[in-house]
Amino acid sequence: MRKGILSIAAAAAALSLGLTACGGDDGDTTAQAGDASSASSAKPGKIGVILPDSKSSARWETADRKYLEEAFTAAGVAHEIQNAQGDKNSFQTIADQMITGGVTVLAIVNLDSGTGKAVLDKAKSQGVATIDYDRLTLGGNADYYVSFDNTAVGRLQGEGLVKCLTDQKADKPIVAELNGSPTDNNATLFKEGYDGVLKPKYDSGEYVKGPDQSVPDWDNTQAGTIFEQMLTSTPKIAGVLAANDGLGNAAISVLKKNNLNGKVPVTGQDATVQGLQNILAGDQCMTVYKAVKQEADATAQLAIALAQGQKPAANGSVKDTETGKDVAAVLLTPKAVYFDNVKDVVADGYVTKDELCTGDFAGKCAEAGIS
Ligand code: BGC
Repeated sequence: MRKGILSIAAAAAALSLGLTACGGDDGDTTAQAGDASSASSAKPGKIGVILPDSKSSARWETADRKYLEEAFTAAGVAHEIQNAQGDKNSFQTIADQMITGGVTVLAIVNLDSGTGKAVLDKAKSQGVATIDYDRLTLGGNADYYVSFDNTAVGRLQGEGLVKCLTDQKADKPIVAELNGSPTDNNATLFKEGYDGVLKPKYDSGEYVKGPDQSVPDWDNTQAGTIFEQMLTSTPKIAGVLAANDGLGNAAISVLKKNNLNGKVPVTGQDATVQGLQNILAGDQCMTVYKAVKQEADATAQLAIALAQGQKPAANGSVKDTETGKDVAAVLLTPKAVYFDNVKDVVADGYVTKDELCTGDFAGKCAEAGIS
């Protein structure tokens, strides 16, 4: 009986390798290595991950890749992590290669919902399980979604800007909004979050609504140009809601040229080294720390279970606004970071003191209790 299952598995393995299973004496190592339970699934588990780029945020290469790699390696599961470098054609080519190369689970951070959906559809048609990592692919019907509560991220940014403007005793401040990419569903959710905080203040006349613009593909260079135009048209901007640290830094560079850095609070997201240094310098008022290790670990757990042919449970769900359907989701909790708790990000191991406290920042680090 057991022998029978093994030889069927050997034949299946040989077929999937494109070999012919002829001849009686089989010395197929795939079958010898397997046991009856793993032999029942024809494909061994392999996980593919496609990251979006390395410029819209430092996180993808410095945090996501590192933590995913660590989690897969610790579990001893075959894996491949690639970065599409912002190119939608490469994104699709990488996905095709991964599928042909035998991944059984594919996790993607889409560059937009359209190309993301094409990849997810193809994966599914080949029997590959799918995970939307960090960004939900609208209309994509991924099996799972793992991210942070992105509306909560935006709320923390809105509340952060209010706190910083209050600390500066700003009177009827004009607020500019530098939003993320219009093709990133997360950018929509962040904006929902911060506008939920800011709109009542605009409506009551406590704040004045200034320029409000999205930055295509989260491109930091374009963000600088956009903010320069905002400041030219509205020189009295008194606060900047920037949707991540890269956009925040672009605004800070323009403010510096106009000797306004430190006087106009700027928000951010991702707790990047650059964002945290801008906070230490007093040029950025806050960032949002998302413990990417938790996100990578949750994804690895799901992916490994899927690779083993299980249907893991998720603790929640989100609605895909395009299909109206619920997608099984794991949503993690973000945290606001100001000068006083930059040290928590270091204590969590997300950035090291060595990379943060370089040169002039050493003194600021000491002041912020980073030892
Ligand atoms: C992520 C952010 C990131 C941004 C730009 C968003 O989808 O949630 O963490 O800063 O993309 O890469």
